[in-house]
Amino acid sequence: MLRQLVIIYFAVISEIPVNGRSIDGDDDFVEELHTRHKRSASCNTTPSLKKYKIYVEHTACIAPSSEANLTTAGVSDAEIIEIVNSHNTYRSGTQATDMMKMSWDAEVAYIAQKWAENCETVHDGGMKRRIPGRFRMGQNLFWGSHGTWSEAVKYWYDEIKDFTYDGGDANDFLKVGHYTQVVWAKSIKIGCGYAYCKSNNRHLFVCNYGPPGNGNERYKPYKQGTPCQDCQQGRCVNNLCDCDKICLNGGTLDISTCTCNCKTGYTAPDCSLNCTQKADSGGCISWGASKCKTHGNFPMDCPHMCNICPSK
Ligand SMILES: *[C@@H]1O[C@H](CO)[C@@H](O)[C@H](O)[C@H]1NC(C)=O
Ligand SMILES: *[C@@H]1O[C@H](CO)[C@@H](O)[C@H](O)[C@H]1NC(C)=O
Repeated sequence: MLRQLVIIYFAVISEIPVNGRSIDGDDDFVEELHTRHKRSASCNTTPSLKKYKIYVEHTACIAPSSEANLTTAGVSDAEIIEIVNSHNTYRSGTQATDMMKMSWDAEVAYIAQKWAENCETVHDGGMKRRIPGRFRMGQNLFWGSHGTWSEAVKYWYDEIKDFTYDGGDANDFLKVGHYTQVVWAKSIKIGCGYAYCKSNNRHLFVCNYGPPGNGNERYKPYKQGTPCQDCQQGRCVNNLCDCDKICLNGGTLDISTCTCNCKTGYTAPDCSLNCTQKADSGGCISWGASKCKTHGNFPMDCPHMCNICPSK
């Protein structure tokens, strides 16, 4: 289980109002969850939220803090573009053979928004933010008495001044961990949330990233070399590789062909869980269902025992 990246940043920057609103999207999940009045929907009663209950106190299921001003919470369509473009601009400026284009993900953003409304300046924890049936996530936080999304992303990126590529202990993770997440080649999906927390006058910005960065070889967030060299021909835009897909459930993306290599029982093209095809391994029962809540691999390896499959 890798340590979740991330540290926290305090910054006081010039005042620019941040006007939030609810997110509009184009799939059922979004329609159901992202209208403001439903944001505190319970995981017990909202069908699309039930899957999160397998993780104790999942961020998707927590109620907003009374500190959060829900009138201004959220991320506008214009801010979504600002967030995605600023990440992709920084990413395309690296000399990377394997840098993927990032795109917005409504479910990732839903969880980030819930955490922002919790008004805490700590991370929620990897088990509490991961998406059952999809992927784990990294997280960057930023807060200050004022701020915009572009400023938040710039603060993270500016850690490049302390970063040595492949420099091992020459790097201090606490000083470069936001930067390495921003330019983590394999982090393809991004979703962010914003809340203003009243009593301490704090603007809180949260971005979640899937798959997470800062795993193995955290000081090699990408492969140095000719931009897009590893990417399938015709998929390179602005030095970024765009396979237009993400591989779920531990599947890995082969960017030379833009296809997913899936774990057993998970099906192409994106390694979705098919409960008809995927059987629990023999070991599942002997370990016991309590492991579903404590060990990150269990829900993926034992979806029936862990109640990921919908018949349960
Ligand atoms: C929340 O923000 C709105 C818009 O800025 C403001 O009018 C309202 O007074 C705030 N509510 C609280 C309780 O601070
Ligand atoms: C799951 O697999 C079964 C058996 O191969 C197939 O009939 C079914 O259509 C699949 N379901 C989905 C949602 O792909």
